[in-house]
Order: sequence, then C-alpha cells, then structure tokens
Amino acid sequence: MGKLGSLVMVVVSACMAVGIAGASSNFIKSSCSKTTYPAVCVSSLSVYASRIQQDPQSLVETALSLSLNRSQSTKAFVAKCNRLKGLKSREYAALKDCAEEIGDSVDRLRRSLKELTLCKQQGKDFAWHISNVETWVSSALTDDTTCGDGFSGKALSGKIKDSIRASMLNLAQVTSNALSLINQYAAKH
Ligand SMILES: *[C@@H]1O[C@H](CO)[C@@H](O)[C@H](O)[C@H]1NC(C)=O
Repeated sequence: MGKLGSLVMVVVSACMAVGIAGASSNFIKSSCSKTTYPAVCVSSLSVYASRIQQDPQSLVETALSLSLNRSQSTKAFVAKCNRLKGLKSREYAALKDCAEEIGDSVDRLRRSLKELTLCKQQGKDFAWHISNVETWVSSALTDDTTCGDGFSGKALSGKIKDSIRASMLNLAQVTSNALSLINQYAAKH
C-alpha cells in the first residue's frame, strides 16, 4: 500500500470509530432518557461507550457494575466515618445502621450482577433470572434510601451528615438508573 493508501485507511478507520462511538452514545442517551436521573445516567455511562456499543445486555451489566462499585466505595467511606473519634452516640448509631444497610446493598448488587450474566446464557430461563435481578436491585435501592434518611434529622452534626447524605444521594441515583435500565431491558425481551 502506498502512502496515500495508508492515509485513506487511517481516515476511514478514524471515521468508523467516530461513527461507532456516535451510535453508542445515541444508544446510551435514548436508553437513559427514560430513567429518573437522565443527566446522571448519561454522564456516568458515556465513558463506557466503547464497552457498551449498542448492546442492551452490556448496557445493563455496566450500569449495575457501576452501581456495585459506587456502593463498595460508599461502604468503605461509611466505615471510615464510623471510626472517627468523638462521635455523638446518635451519630454513631446512625452510622452503624447505615453500615449494615449498605453492606446488605453491596451483597444484593453483587448477587444481581452474577444473576444478570445468567440471562444471556442459552437455555437459561431469562424471565426468572431477570425478575430476581429486579427484586434484589430494588431492595438494594431501599437500603440506600433508608441509610440516607437516617442522616436527614437535625440531631446529627453538619460535616459528616452532609458528606454521607451527598454520597448516598449519588449512589441512590446511580442505582435507581440501573434499576430503570434493567426494567426496560426486561420489558423489551
Ligand atoms: C467495577 O470494578 C471492577 C473491579 O475493580 C472492574 O472490573 C469494573 O470494570 C468496574 N466497573 C465499572 C463500570 O467501572
């Protein structure tokens, strides 16, 4: 191949890459448009466009994996707060409850991610596995919300309360979006 030939090849493959990325980001945008927090959905998933392509299974797996990873880091954060010195007993109690709830949430999400991979295997009962995933992710979301609510009262002091609430809020949004994408996926199947 001459110089011109390789230049053409480079340009063509660059255009194809852009085309694929564009199609994938449109796919992500339109799927996210039906979630409760579309902007969070698009910004958190767009970075995975090349992994998601336009594959619905890959989209829900990535969304769920993101939610699991956020839960794990939030769990670590709550555990760290729990070890702070000089906590009031009410703060300590709220953190302890929260650590338990988020621990449950992490377990449920981890189980859901495994169950989700069964959905794409031939001969497996899609409806059964996806309904398990829907149930567990929905319980995980309830756990996150309960944990956040524990910090809404006036009893707790500013800093811890604000940072826990902020991370719980973000986590709950990401998990709610994952659930909504899973529900869409289940309904379309
Ligand atoms: C979540 O973390 C795992 C393990 O570190 C990683 O393999 C996976 O890609 C992460 N998921 C996302 C959506 O970033």
